[in-house]
Amino acid sequence: MKNVNVAIIGTKFMGKAHSNAWSGAPKFFHLGLNPVLKVACGQNERGTREFAQTWGWQETETDWHKVVERPDVDVIDICTPTYLHKDIAIAAAQNGKQIFCEKPMALSYAEAREMYEAAEKAGVLHYLNHNYRRCPAVAYAKQLIDEGKIGQIFHWRGAYLQDWITDPNFPLTWHLQKKYAGAGPHYDLNSHSVDLARYLVGEVAAVSAMMKQFYAKRPLPGSGAGTFKSGEGGGEMGEQTVDDASFMIAEFENGALGAFESSRFASGRKNYNYFEIYGSKGSLAFDLERMNELQFLNLDDPVDQQGFRTILVTNATHPYVAAWWPPGHIIGYEHEFTHAVVDFLAAMEKGTPIVPNFCDGMRNMQVLEAGIVSAKNGCKVAVADIK
Ligand SMILES: NC(=O)c1ccc[n+]([C@@H]2O[C@H](COP(=O)([O-])OP(=O)(O)OC[C@H]3O[C@@H](n4cnc5c(N)ncnc54)[C@H](O)[C@@H]3O)[C@@H](O)[C@H]2O)c1
Repeated sequence: MKNVNVAIIGTKFMGKAHSNAWSGAPKFFHLGLNPVLKVACGQNERGTREFAQTWGWQETETDWHKVVERPDVDVIDICTPTYLHKDIAIAAAQNGKQIFCEKPMALSYAEAREMYEAAEKAGVLHYLNHNYRRCPAVAYAKQLIDEGKIGQIFHWRGAYLQDWITDPNFPLTWHLQKKYAGAGPHYDLNSHSVDLARYLVGEVAAVSAMMKQFYAKRPLPGSGAGTFKSGEGGGEMGEQTVDDASFMIAEFENGALGAFESSRFASGRKNYNYFEIYGSKGSLAFDLERMNELQFLNLDDPVDQQGFRTILVTNATHPYVAAWWPPGHIIGYEHEFTHAVVDFLAAMEKGTPIVPNFCDGMRNMQVLEAGIVSAKNGCKVAVADIK
């Protein structure tokens, strides 16, 4: 089997999730290409060395520019804060590397378009990691929709709610600064919901949004960038420059209406990525915190038996599941990343595209940016008007 040398840039939350996927994929799936964990790149030498030892990366580097130029690297896996995605992805494309990139794609629609054009011009494979598409229950929802089981879709209702920054002592990490993150939960969380809505319902035509910041200042972190916990800030305060919650309503091109709620101030909600889809023949509901389950209402059932049924999406006939455990032996968050790696390697082997890709990411950013313009100007904004 042909080896594929992977380089990962970024070694914290997503660095771990991706490392686990690259090393785990060949153990469970029959792959045509064998991923080699070649080089890990992080900001500091010692931390990167420890990360490499833990996760099985052969070599380390602290300068991403050197990594993307290495002739022995085939794939660049981007797990850095959002503001670095554009420069790394474009440099990777120009060096002929295949690109596996974290979301949200970039700081703006214009940046995302540059990334897409660079990747297309270079003819490299590009993938944007909206991992929830590859949760078996979500992939199964897509299958039911494609089979016509839901009929004409009337409504999308999505909520992506967390609560990790409700404590005013949570420090001013990169996530809370516009220059690094682009926006708050509107980019971080709504980007996932918009991706799921585009995947399951269709293209968004126009949006209207409101956004709110609850705390203007945060304690500055003790040192560097990274994942921090409440109370880890120093005494000095810094200005938070992103929204804390974003509510957006939308019209889809196919006539459906949608609602997107995102917040990192929803006390008690940890990673509540929830959606409902209502159609002429049935309805669906999904909650990531019950990720092995899909709620399905079938209007073809006899009227007196109608109601949402809970499908445990763990049969070998369900998407991705056959490679794992017997029915009922549930899987978790990390498996979505493994599925992404499996599909990425298959696309690389066959020379076919993978979705979501930089084109999807670019359209996603266009919708999100339309939301930002709407919130700023207090009006409905057509997605096509974002240039
Ligand atoms: N798919 C998902 O569900 C999901 C979940 C969380 C985060 N993300 C996205 O993944 C990306 C990374 O987020 P995270 O939570 O892993 O962040 P993090 O803060 O936990 O880790 C960021 C990593 O990037 C490294 N880094 C920063 N600047 C660097 C540089 N110049 N050179 C090399 N390394 C550098 C840091 O050292 C750190 O290892 C973000 O775009 C984020 O939006 C996606």
